Amino acid sequence: MSEALFSIIDRLQANVTSGLPDQAPAPMKVPAATYADEVQWRREIDEIFLKRPLLVALTCDIPEPGDFQAFEIANRPIVVVRGDDGTARTFLNVCRHRGARVTELECGSAKRFMCNYHYWSYDRQGRLDGVPGAETFGEIGVSGLVELPTEEIVGAIFAVLDPNADLDARRWLGGMEDSLAALRLDALYPYRTITKIESPNWKLAADGYLDGYHIGYLHKNSIGTKAVTNRNTYDLFGPHVRIGFATKRTMEFERSIPSPNLPDYMSLVHYVFPNVSMSGGHGDTLQLSRLFPGPTVNASLTTQQQYFREPVVGDMVRVAEEKRVVYEQVVRDEDCATIFGIDSALPAIGDGHVLFGRNEMGNHHLHRQIAELTR
Ligand code: FES
Ligand SMILES: [Fe+2]
Repeated sequence: MSEALFSIIDRLQANVTSGLPDQAPAPMKVPAATYADEVQWRREIDEIFLKRPLLVALTCDIPEPGDFQAFEIANRPIVVVRGDDGTARTFLNVCRHRGARVTELECGSAKRFMCNYHYWSYDRQGRLDGVPGAETFGEIGVSGLVELPTEEIVGAIFAVLDPNADLDARRWLGGMEDSLAALRLDALYPYRTITKIESPNWKLAADGYLDGYHIGYLHKNSIGTKAVTNRNTYDLFGPHVRIGFATKRTMEFERSIPSPNLPDYMSLVHYVFPNVSMSGGHGDTLQLSRLFPGPTVNASLTTQQQYFREPVVGDMVRVAEEKRVVYEQVVRDEDCATIFGIDSALPAIGDGHVLFGRNEMGNHHLHRQIAELTR
């Protein structure tokens, strides 16, 4: 185990001993309208989702040339593909002829991408390589799919939805890269069944992933049974947050334990702004949750995917499916049920503000980042 992980456990032990989590200097009030205001929401889409780097895939999602993953975010259908040269690229999943999707699948491996409208085809590096009846068409004027700035770093693939943007993933990570590298994201195996759960405003869902305070209450009988609540560590890296969670065995940890199983003693969530939460990764599994703002201010989609240290085949499929179902229930029946309640109550909230305590530092950081980027 690395010194960096030891020091997080030291801090968790100190927090358990003192009875206090890491804290912000003062509580924070956020106007309820921040969640419900359509103009603000539009600015979040335009200034954050369309302009800032997004984590679009893990290296292990597309390990081989031709492997791809496709989804839609902020009304942009995209496809992330590994080329024959080993480079991961992101393209708009939009045919240069008349705009149909070049793949309708969410993931897979492709020799080429063929649009099924008129069969234009594109190679794994996005180059247009086939136009049926080209001699009848006239001047085409384009050579391939629209490529988006993409960079692969520490086992994660980042892209910006603006084709003309600059991308410096290391700078964007703001110092979180070492902590992400320790998760060995490139040495995981995905379980390909993705859970999709409808959620309200994306920030209400994001608040849940950044909140170490609710685990022993809302999730008391599910994922909270092994946790010691509200003794979290919070580390801020650029706009991102790493949250440490104490467990009932945190105080038993000693550096001299040979090959300790870290999840027994603590768990970590890496929240990669604006919309990705990675839970775990130091043990055998990692859960990736992503938030996709929906078509209106009060809608979003939460997706969850499980990753393992061994390929998900044979008996591992059952293990993966059981884990998937547990987390689906927790997020749908506990988190989302609760935040749908908040969403519908926003106009009625007290003095028009929601409150984040000194102990909810991760949420402070999220709302500060959003306010700054949408000013
Ligand atoms: S729209 Fe793709 S081939 Fe016509
Ligand atoms: Fe939760």
